[in-house]
Amino acid sequence: MLIHSASQLLTLAGGPQRGQSLGSLGLIEDGAVLIHGSEIAAVGKTEELRRAHPFEPELNAKGQVVLPGFVDPHTHLIWAGDRAAEFEMRLEGKTYMEIMAAGGGILSTVRATRQASRDELLVQTRARAKSVFRHGTTTIEAKTGYGLDTDSELRQLQALLALDDEDPLEILPTFMGAHAIGPEYEGNPDGYTRMVCREMLPAVLEWWGLHARNRPLPFVDVFCETGAFSLEQSRVILETAHNLGFPLKIHVDEFDNLGGASLAAELGAVSADHLVKTSPEDIRNLAKSDTVAVALPCTPFGLGDAHYTPAREILAADGLLAIASDMNPGPAWCESMQFVIALACRYLHLTPAQAIAAATINAAAAVNRADQLGSIEPGKQADLLILSVSDYRHLGYRFGTNLVKKVIKKGEVYKI
Ligand code: NIG
Ligand code: FE
Repeated sequence: MLIHSASQLLTLAGGPQRGQSLGSLGLIEDGAVLIHGSEIAAVGKTEELRRAHPFEPELNAKGQVVLPGFVDPHTHLIWAGDRAAEFEMRLEGKTYMEIMAAGGGILSTVRATRQASRDELLVQTRARAKSVFRHGTTTIEAKTGYGLDTDSELRQLQALLALDDEDPLEILPTFMGAHAIGPEYEGNPDGYTRMVCREMLPAVLEWWGLHARNRPLPFVDVFCETGAFSLEQSRVILETAHNLGFPLKIHVDEFDNLGGASLAAELGAVSADHLVKTSPEDIRNLAKSDTVAVALPCTPFGLGDAHYTPAREILAADGLLAIASDMNPGPAWCESMQFVIALACRYLHLTPAQAIAAATINAAAAVNRADQLGSIEPGKQADLLILSVSDYRHLGYRFGTNLVKKVIKKGEVYKI
């Protein structure tokens, strides 16, 4: 198939974009893409590719923007129920961590998710997966972490693999048994930490070997924060996971600076996420490493908080910056990377071009898939979007409407 007549074809070619190079769109005016099966075969000008491939079935982009599908590298896609009542409590003055300490927050979603039948969990999660795809996300990272006991966590992994098999949205699972201290271990975070290391991680490894049919191992993530896991507990969990062969991710500095970003760099984590209260020293350590800094602007926005990730400082230090939705039933129930881009432009002070690169090629790096995803280059997976606008800057500039007209996933065309 030959997609042609894109007003602007954003290739994002050339690999992940560090520091001030962020925002190199690789823009081709009147661009075209040749797709063979599920792969990109050639990229160029419309006239050139049509001349070289005259018998190829054609899809006319009609003067609109074509770009890589969004990669959302940090979500909590799988849960049951909602927390609308907590939203109201926060508006009345309670903080996120106060609600969590009183047994609400993550733990209230744990109760709802444990109680849900497998079918109910799938029905609710599938609806979100479909909405995410319609908004242009073609690959999503999805964390467990609303089970917090071994069986419930494995059930979430199993549901994520089932959804990945049935839907065009590609799901990359993360095991996050260390999302909060399990309710059975209240007041005993060290005991829970030991259980994660001795029981959960080996169980996940074994289960994955039996059920995941040669997929790469899931990521392992920890919520390193006062009231969740300390820096020391996070280190123990991540080192255990690393020794078992899991790639690592970490939630750090959402509310407090505990030094988790430097830990991520030291352990060679794939990404360190949130990074709101990160110290200049942690930023320097992170920026020197290959760990991707993932900013989650929906979270402070959802909390009505004025503090966002210091994205400009991360770029000035030559760091690798990506953006993600953090979609979850608490502060950030957001299914649209277009909205994340709009927030990134306003609160992380990125240009539309920088935000687009952070949501595509750099987001692919944040899930260890920059070799297959996040740009339009020969040999890569054919995951593309055709927008309903002819100027890419409408991404960021506009918000609240879906600008995606067609989604192409592994070479298949889906009309929105
Ligand atoms: O990344 N901070 C920890 N986890 C999520 C929130 C999950 C929830 O509130 O249910 C986050 O913001
Ligand atoms: Fe999160």
